[in-house]
Amino acid sequence: MIAIISGTNRPGSNSRKIAALVENQYRSLNIPVQVLDLALLPAEVFLPSAYAAKPASFDPYSRAVLASDGLHVVTPEYNGGMPGVLKYFIDLLKFPESFEAKPVCFTGISAGAWGALRPVEQLQEVFGYRNAHIFPSRVFIPQIHQTLDSSGNLTNPELNKRIQDQAHGFVRFIKKIKA
Ligand SMILES: Cc1cc2nc3c(=O)[nH]c(=O)nc-3n(C[C@H](O)[C@H](O)[C@H](O)COP(=O)(O)O)c2cc1C
Repeated sequence: MIAIISGTNRPGSNSRKIAALVENQYRSLNIPVQVLDLALLPAEVFLPSAYAAKPASFDPYSRAVLASDGLHVVTPEYNGGMPGVLKYFIDLLKFPESFEAKPVCFTGISAGAWGALRPVEQLQEVFGYRNAHIFPSRVFIPQIHQTLDSSGNLTNPELNKRIQDQAHGFVRFIKKIKA
């Protein structure tokens, strides 16, 4: 199973729309997939006490990450970095086993010209520190407000192709690591 993390909790998030496109790619390859939408995290997860005593409502997220064969993170750019909620989510996951030798893949989106290069590189540092296997082919989707249509599809066929190639490549990468 591949777990897709939709990296913000903003209502109506474009990252969630891109996560849906990524999900379709894995489904078309018959790969089981689970989307972890940070917008659905229960409010109690954000209590300061959650570091020491994880609320039971966080278990499904924690277990999905542990059970996954690979993680695909879709992150937007917020103020030149990853959203705070994404780092918080990472910090709540079980340590150290959540990312140890875990294949991880990144897709970034931004309103500006760089397609979330900065947050993706921040995430590579974090996941590298935690001994994940980082899939080198990243996808950056700039100018997201012009690139996504009202149905949540990408208007640029080249970007669709990159998302498709990335998903296919990540599945091969996971198989090689498991072999
Ligand atoms: C709090 C906030 C900070 C943002 N900072 C940046 C930024 O630094 N660079 C950029 O290109 N776009 C920035 N944007 C625009 C977002 O990348 C863009 O709106 C994208 O759709 C956000 O992802 P989301 O729709 O999943 O929330 C920011 C948006 C928000 C809400």
